[in-house]
Amino acid sequence: MVYSAYTVGMEFTSIPTDKWEWHPSPLPSQITLVTSRGADGALDLAPKSCLAVMAFDPLTVGFACNRGHTTYQNIVRTGEFVVNVLPEGLAPLAWAIIAFQGQERIDASGLTFLESKRVAVPRIAECTAHLECEFDDAVAFESGEAFVYGRVLAADILSEAVGAGERGYRLLDPCFYLDGGWAGMGAAKRPEA
Ligand SMILES: Cc1cc2nc3c(=O)[nH]c(=O)nc-3n(C[C@H](O)[C@H](O)[C@H](O)COP(=O)(O)O)c2cc1C
Repeated sequence: MVYSAYTVGMEFTSIPTDKWEWHPSPLPSQITLVTSRGADGALDLAPKSCLAVMAFDPLTVGFACNRGHTTYQNIVRTGEFVVNVLPEGLAPLAWAIIAFQGQERIDASGLTFLESKRVAVPRIAECTAHLECEFDDAVAFESGEAFVYGRVLAADILSEAVGAGERGYRLLDPCFYLDGGWAGMGAAKRPEA
């Protein structure tokens, strides 16, 4: 096995511990659209990218969210959210919609909302996979952010992508937040047996 291009001899430069100063960012993270509802039932939609799988059984996912955001307020009040996987072709939408709030944002998105199977929060038809989640807890930080997490009650993915091997990822078409922009995934690969 030869990994020579990435071993001895590389030089490293210290970077600040301020994520906004990372160019390039060493931690690209997947961009999703999180849907949630307020106590009055009002639908909210927001891009979230600081996302992680926290536990496998039961499957628990979470994301970092500013506590002032409607997404956070909705989730802690109504206890549900859906993580919608944003395909790269729709990445510009993530930036475009945050200029709007509330119903104006929903309208401006031009997206289509489908009833979910296990939660009252809808899924987004144009997104390539959906994780329907029940809020579990949130860990608050002094910065005003929180890590919000919940159990995945139901999940679905573009039918064509299921069992399609590496092509499945091309169909899922995930995109990743860099430092102010995004990138697609490129070709999917697997380690040699
Ligand atoms: C590509 C992208 C990724 C983002 N990721 C996050 C994130 O992980 N956490 C967060 O709190 N805000 C994130 N934001 C910012 C929020 O989406 C934005 O502040 C939004 O207005 C919050 O909406 P809300 O108040 O309806 O929740 C991101 C924005 C963009 C464009």
